Amino acid sequence: MDKKVRVLLIGAAFSADLHAEGYARCPDLATVVGICDKVPERVHDLAARYNFKDYQFYEDYKDAIDNVDCDVVDICLPNFLHHDVALYAFERGRHVISEKPIATTVEDAYEMVQAAEKAGKKLYYAEDWLFAPALNKALSVIEEGALGRPMFYRARECHSGSHSPFTQTIKYCGGGAMVHLGVHPVSFMLAMKDNKWTELVAMTSGGGENNFLHTKMEGEDWAACIIKFQDGTSALLEANYITTGGMEDVFEVYGTEGRMQVDLTFSSPVKVFSIPGVSYAVEKAELTTGWTKPAVDEKYNLGYIGEIRHFMECAKEGKDARVGLRGVDGYIALKVVNLIYKSAKEGVKIVNDDLK
Ligand SMILES: NC(=O)c1ccc[n+]([C@@H]2O[C@H](COP(=O)([O-])OP(=O)(O)OC[C@H]3O[C@@H](n4cnc5c(N)ncnc54)[C@H](O)[C@@H]3O)[C@@H](O)[C@H]2O)c1
Repeated sequence: MDKKVRVLLIGAAFSADLHAEGYARCPDLATVVGICDKVPERVHDLAARYNFKDYQFYEDYKDAIDNVDCDVVDICLPNFLHHDVALYAFERGRHVISEKPIATTVEDAYEMVQAAEKAGKKLYYAEDWLFAPALNKALSVIEEGALGRPMFYRARECHSGSHSPFTQTIKYCGGGAMVHLGVHPVSFMLAMKDNKWTELVAMTSGGGENNFLHTKMEGEDWAACIIKFQDGTSALLEANYITTGGMEDVFEVYGTEGRMQVDLTFSSPVKVFSIPGVSYAVEKAELTTGWTKPAVDEKYNLGYIGEIRHFMECAKEGKDARVGLRGVDGYIALKVVNLIYKSAKEGVKIVNDDLK
């Protein structure tokens, strides 16, 4: 394809803003030709923020997909809508980017992967951790052998609770903290290990009244899983909504000859003491007064800018994304999250039958 990839952005709020900056920063590759959200002001605000001018606006996603001449439909909608919108887009011959988690059920995720194959189109799974420069640096440190042989990893995403109402019910979200936040460390570790996990055990706070803090939320507000991989390494993966002070994205590695810590969200080189407070410090921080470490180019450092560029390069050539970012990887990650829930609920160890 000689021309730019034409993108229809569906959803115009939080994650759409992350993606929009990605498009705004690869004008050589992509152009946003349509934006859809059932709340019109959000569309116009988003377009104004990124100076998108020649776009069509729709409130209904079917109208948008039917009428906007685009190559890629980028789904930045609540989790339960990813499946229906993706199937509609594939039926009309578009590539699809889906935000995480790929769907709310494993069955829906499988259908999405199948629908892409049937349509001869690509399904891209938006896992930004795979483009975070600090995590890529960490992978190269492991690769060069600086830690010796890796034995154990820890990875987590935690904060104080989602801004979106759909996350409060299992039907609309697919679960609690593990499916909504933990899917990042799960997807990242699976990509690193080429999806070759062998067994896992997990616990969660259980959801509803059993939760530590979020007793009105159906899904769990705390979850942890120990997972083993075919290469003999293991990892502790965590997600929770009981973490105050801003989002915590951490990756740690223990090797035979060294160890490594990556702190994605509090590693800013800027340290500020402010009595009135800075306008923004870090995602989900409750306060910005006193000492803070305001994020520098947060969208780049969390991987969104690289992720969008990669998808645009792939869509231009009609190619699959790299491992970890294909629809099938989103499906496998969701399958693992659901096995984490099964292990926690039934108090059992789960063995990966697919590797037998
Ligand atoms: N990769 C990340 O780090 C990251 C961060 C945040 C959210 N997400 C994912 O992005 C997706 C969206 O989350 P969000 O935080 O942007 O949610 P949000 O609540 O901020 O925005 C959702 C938008 O969808 C619109 N919408 C809902 N139903 C619609 C419909 N039927 N038709 C048209 N518009 C509709 C809403 O009006 C809203 O503007 C979720 O799947 C979430 O998991 C990913």
